[in-house]
Amino acid sequence: MPNNKDFSPEILDKLNALQKKYAAMGQDISSYLDGLLYADFLTYWDYINLDTLLNLQQPITPYPDEKVFIIYHQITELYFKLCLHEFDRVAHSVKAGELTPGFLLERVRRINRYFEALTSSFDIMVDGMDAGEFLKFRMSLLPASGFQSAQYRKIEICSTSIDRIAHQNHREKFSNPSIEDLPHVFKHLYWREGASELKSGTKTLTLKQFEKKYDSELLDMAEEYFSANIRSAAASLTFSSDDKFKDELRHEMRWLDVNVNINWTLAHYKSAVRYLQRNPEDIAATGGTNWQKYLPPRFQKRIFFPELWSEQELEDWGKTWVKKEIFGINS
Ligand code: HEM
Repeated sequence: MPNNKDFSPEILDKLNALQKKYAAMGQDISSYLDGLLYADFLTYWDYINLDTLLNLQQPITPYPDEKVFIIYHQITELYFKLCLHEFDRVAHSVKAGELTPGFLLERVRRINRYFEALTSSFDIMVDGMDAGEFLKFRMSLLPASGFQSAQYRKIEICSTSIDRIAHQNHREKFSNPSIEDLPHVFKHLYWREGASELKSGTKTLTLKQFEKKYDSELLDMAEEYFSANIRSAAASLTFSSDDKFKDELRHEMRWLDVNVNINWTLAHYKSAVRYLQRNPEDIAATGGTNWQKYLPPRFQKRIFFPELWSEQELEDWGKTWVKKEIFGINS
């Protein structure tokens, strides 16, 4: 039988600390030590649920590149989840009345980092699939589309006030909405109006299915983030005149606007151009939007933080990148 001499003072200290911890919760430390005794050592594969994760790629056609397509979408959704994790921390902090400039700055910085990783890896889609294969397996996926990514819509809701993601035609009249206006503005978000059938102008099936599954969840989220989105959270902060975070936050928020509303958007647009531009009937391989008019930022002008941009910058939104990356013009 071991006695006190068999244990180092550090181990005895730890046992005492543990005993106090469990006693404070009315628990018996001895049962928990039994638990430790019988538990298996943790493995990497169990901890990160590796078997489940690697079982989630289930192509529905025989074309090998469909797996690339599925996996890259999953990678993107995981990054989106990381972003939402940071937005959630901002919201908690706002609701607890504890938000500080430094905390908000770090959250926005992280989200930017995630989006930069996504934008810089998008070539996996643009160049990494055989175009002929893509056009074939994509037909089997209709009417599903990345358009139905709810996490993408959530990122927008958490970033800015709801009027900023309304369709351009309504943005002015909806500016500075009250929380009572939310359900009405919500009906006029840009993506709802963008997803109309090329010919008839009626809602696409892609949109109808999305609305059925996510509308109420997204509206709840819009309410929850009414005062806790990044734009409102930043506006609620007070800075001292020499606050070093003020300029840094402004800088990171401008990057967030560029990352979500220009860089990712255009990297994604580039993939649509690469695979779908060929001839008009190929447009069928989408969720049915007029994507050439819908996807480019210079048409939609989605801008989360207009107050951070000059008139000229707002006017030129997305143009330089399109010229350079899509048309190869440098000026
Ligand atoms: C070859 C690759 C891709 C092509 C050709 C493509 C094509 C398209 C098209 C044409 C649309 C417009 C909606 C429609 O008519 O379906 C769209 C929307 C969308 N896609 Fe993709 N996509 C690709 C990859 C991805 C990936 C990897 C993601 C990551 C989740 C994604 C997420 C989205 C999102 C969020 C939208 C909505 C954008 C908005 O509303 O502005 N797409 N995509």
